[in-house]
Amino acid sequence: MKLNIGVIKGDGIGPEIVTEAMKVLDRTGEVYGFQCSYEQLLMGGASIDVHGIPLTDETIERAKASDAVLMGSIGGDTNTSPWYKLEPSKRPEAGLLKIRKELGLFANLRPAVLYEELSGACPLKEEITAGGFDMMIMRELTGGLYFGERKTVEENGIRTAYDSLTYNENEIRRIAVKAFDIARKRRHKVISVDKANVLDSSRLWRKVVEEVAKDYPDVTLEHMLVDNCAMQLVKNPKQFDVLLTENMFGDILSDEASMVTGSIGMLASASLNETKFGLYEPSGGSAPDIAGKGIANPIATILSAAMMLRYSFDQDDAADAIEAAVSQVLKDGYRTGDIMSDGCTKVNTAQMGDLICERIH
Ligand code: IPM
Ligand code: MG
Repeated sequence: MKLNIGVIKGDGIGPEIVTEAMKVLDRTGEVYGFQCSYEQLLMGGASIDVHGIPLTDETIERAKASDAVLMGSIGGDTNTSPWYKLEPSKRPEAGLLKIRKELGLFANLRPAVLYEELSGACPLKEEITAGGFDMMIMRELTGGLYFGERKTVEENGIRTAYDSLTYNENEIRRIAVKAFDIARKRRHKVISVDKANVLDSSRLWRKVVEEVAKDYPDVTLEHMLVDNCAMQLVKNPKQFDVLLTENMFGDILSDEASMVTGSIGMLASASLNETKFGLYEPSGGSAPDIAGKGIANPIATILSAAMMLRYSFDQDDAADAIEAAVSQVLKDGYRTGDIMSDGCTKVNTAQMGDLICERIH
């Protein structure tokens, strides 16, 4: 079996961490009988440097023609990089938003898992985290404030900016269906997060999520207000199985959830459309401060590659093997600098990739 994978190495640490993920994919293919063919695509700052814009039509077409896209990270230091002197629509992040929209990637899955071996890095008290936690944040990714009408005008001499938050019932229904489907493969619980005490878009969100829930009598549904959710994530993270929410709330809550795990360099993500196609990327950013030093943690990208095998290629056994290899490497005491603790062996980006490859069975 041949897997056609578009690869956006991207900016900052992107090229280093994606290289390790490709290494692990190749090794996994040897064991599980598939072959990866990679097509390099430019996006973000790397595309600005060559084409003057963060995402070309050609890249979109080539991404669409692949079976899945593996991505590193995009963007640079917003204070010093020349990319941020460009107008907002030409900056690296604009490319990311555009590819999400163009490829219809409405469902963003961000697992936040506390690894037992890394529980020392978790900023929460042990009594809160004992036994670990494992939640899947399902963020709507192509609607809401990110894609609503936006403008800045001067009204009667006063500068005024508008961003609009719109959702229609179809946009809400399709992400809710995905969330309930995924809950069925997990612990059968969805907590839908909104601001229904204030926002119309949230009141419609709640109604539609309840309609969808009727088709899933085996899954429990709870609603939670977003401000309370921000609190509950640090007070009792274990209560979350699938956390379903709209775009902006999901952006904020997924950063909070990842911080709570204590190891953002460990967290994968998948952005999916209605088909098997997906874009897979680590949850962390491009970390320009450590780019090129070979010390970044490649595990989030490697776990994103595992998600790709699971969701786009139905290679569940191969995905399990990668996840097990990552756990084993941690049990064996190997750590990159970001997750280093006393008594462990510190390794660099490429060594971590090799160690994981050695443990793929
Ligand atoms: C993310 C990022 C992006 C977002 C930025 C880079 C536009 O924060 O993927 O969470 O806000 O969606
Ligand atoms: Mg974010």
